[in-house]
Amino acid sequence: MSSKSIGVGLLGLGVVGSGVVQILRDRAQVLERHYDFQLDVRRIAVRNVGKSRSIDIPAGMLTDDASSVVQDPDVQIVVEVIGGLEPARTLSLAALEAGKDVVTANKALIAEHGGELFRTAHENNAGLAFEASVCGGIPIVRSLTQGLSANGIDSLYGILNGTTNYILTRMSDEGGTYEEILQTAQELGFAEADPTMDVDGTDAAQKLSILCRLAFGTDVPYSQILTEGIDKITSLDIGYARELGYAIKLLGIARDAGAHIEARVHPTLVSTDTLLANIKDEFNAVEVVGDTAGPQVYYGRGAGSLPTASAIVSDLIEQADRRSSGRQQLSRSLVDVRTGTPTPKDRIRTSYYCRFTVQDCPGVLAEIAHIFSEYTISIATVIQQGRSEVEGGTVPLIMTTHEAGEADMQRAVDLIGELPTVKETPQVLRIESFT
Ligand code: HSE
Repeated sequence: MSSKSIGVGLLGLGVVGSGVVQILRDRAQVLERHYDFQLDVRRIAVRNVGKSRSIDIPAGMLTDDASSVVQDPDVQIVVEVIGGLEPARTLSLAALEAGKDVVTANKALIAEHGGELFRTAHENNAGLAFEASVCGGIPIVRSLTQGLSANGIDSLYGILNGTTNYILTRMSDEGGTYEEILQTAQELGFAEADPTMDVDGTDAAQKLSILCRLAFGTDVPYSQILTEGIDKITSLDIGYARELGYAIKLLGIARDAGAHIEARVHPTLVSTDTLLANIKDEFNAVEVVGDTAGPQVYYGRGAGSLPTASAIVSDLIEQADRRSSGRQQLSRSLVDVRTGTPTPKDRIRTSYYCRFTVQDCPGVLAEIAHIFSEYTISIATVIQQGRSEVEGGTVPLIMTTHEAGEADMQRAVDLIGELPTVKETPQVLRIESFT
């Protein structure tokens, strides 16, 4: 059967773009057997046409003029893998306005400008596919929009960032300094060009914002999501958490709380019995609780060249399939979303882990316990091992609490931090049980 050729233009040929070209070449025959179209890469925009590359590209296919790829009449689907907000936004809008489909791996772009891009796609009957923008190779976007479309989603939570999971895993399993481990993550190619966005939780917040749009039909701006990174996590906390039966993971958590969406990203203690606690290295995992399907877990590689390219090629195939069969390009559910504000931080209720650095003398525990009791915070466990080797020296005092309100906890910890016997800023982390 002779198949219809669909022209693909790439904006960017870095690790992910090269992976896309590689997969399209390797799987060309299989695709041709399964579909009545073939995907032909026609033009690729790069910054430096003369640079030597790991992949052979036919002469004349490369250009340093990205708009020429978008405007090329032989390109029907544009793959945006340059990252960042501009020129990615302008180029993507131009492609959609020209009625072309856009496939992107750019979570910052979708999280920041999703409303405008989805609307433009819808108005121009164009497709906008973004599977690769959340959790790399895991088909979480397709699962939420198609596989679970018979469900209302009650909650979702998980490990949405590979770099931080890699750092926390290595700190927990092997020790090593944070800086050394971060450098290895960059060398392995899954940290962002600027790893600050991984470490401070922004990358996970952007992904959580996209997931909120899909799961709850609500646009929760990522800048309003409570976001805390892993930079304050020490090996000491990882060790005490383990002793208490927990692992520390950077989690994205979102719940439909009716008037609000409770959405937050922060280091979290999770029981070592749970699946999430056992997700290692750069892997991602998302648990989604649907009201009909119940809980489901999606696990896999959330970053890297081929896993991300796998998601892009699956989007390319879907867009080409729709285009070739003349079906509508974009689901209305992505356009018709409410604007939501996340639950105010003060209204969060959870359990807490606290590490206080206290003077080793009688009465300190009683003072701290008294402040907790004034704020009706119930203590669950206390650990104080060893004694200070010097007179009047400090020791770590570890406490966990039962469920308490965030506002009460914050006030109590502020007061505890002001006690003369408490010597450093208290470390406070949230504990989640996901029951
Ligand atoms: N930098 C991201 C991570 C991968 O570490 O998970 C791309 O989203």
